[in-house]
Amino acid sequence: IGWLALSFAVSFLLGSIPWGVIVSKLAYHKDIRDEGSGNIGTTNAFRAMGKVGGALVFVLDFGKGLLSGWLAFWFWAPLAGWAEIDYSLAGATLPATVEGLPVDAGALALALAFAGCTLGHIFSPWLKFKGGKGIAVAAACLVFVFGPLGFLIEIAVFALGIAVTRCVSVGSIAAAVICPVLALYFYWGQWVPWLIIAATACVVIWAHRANIARLRAGTENKIGSKKTA
Ligand code: G3P
Repeated sequence: IGWLALSFAVSFLLGSIPWGVIVSKLAYHKDIRDEGSGNIGTTNAFRAMGKVGGALVFVLDFGKGLLSGWLAFWFWAPLAGWAEIDYSLAGATLPATVEGLPVDAGALALALAFAGCTLGHIFSPWLKFKGGKGIAVAAACLVFVFGPLGFLIEIAVFALGIAVTRCVSVGSIAAAVICPVLALYFYWGQWVPWLIIAATACVVIWAHRANIARLRAGTENKIGSKKTA
């Protein structure tokens, strides 16, 4: 249980690093929270700081999610009892390798890392438990939690949502909605890890509540538009 707790705790700490705020303050001498949508994530970083600042925040946020997943895949899952770990990335898609156990501890470690880094980003202790919406960090972690195929499906859904509506939030919400469905496939039979992944996806959707209100009102920010709600 110690490795499982560590998987969540380390991921939460990594996820909690508010790169959007740090980059905007250090490099641009402003606070991203006072700009655009007020969100600390990549989309608003592009609005507040342009291409270079936006790309930098994306790389750093994506990086903390990737590191959380990587640590879970290589350390926490095997240490927690993932007996027959397949050391190819595809192995992340087949976590149910410990027969006879109601819950594979390895699958649990991966799911807890996903929850940890995503929730750390959304409820950052350094920002009085406020934060971002978790998309870049969650997507990056899914490289390991679902494996490359699941990650690519998520990216395709995200891109499709944006292509159709020109609203990043629609792509993000669509990706979050599809997440528990994909987890049914990748974590079939692993119901506790599945529940953790699904609950985390619900929190990501909840974090988009202001976007949902703007979408309903027809005032959501569109890519290329100067308007900031
Ligand atoms: O991932 C965040 C995105 O879905 C929306 O960002 O700044 O438009 O609220 P924003």
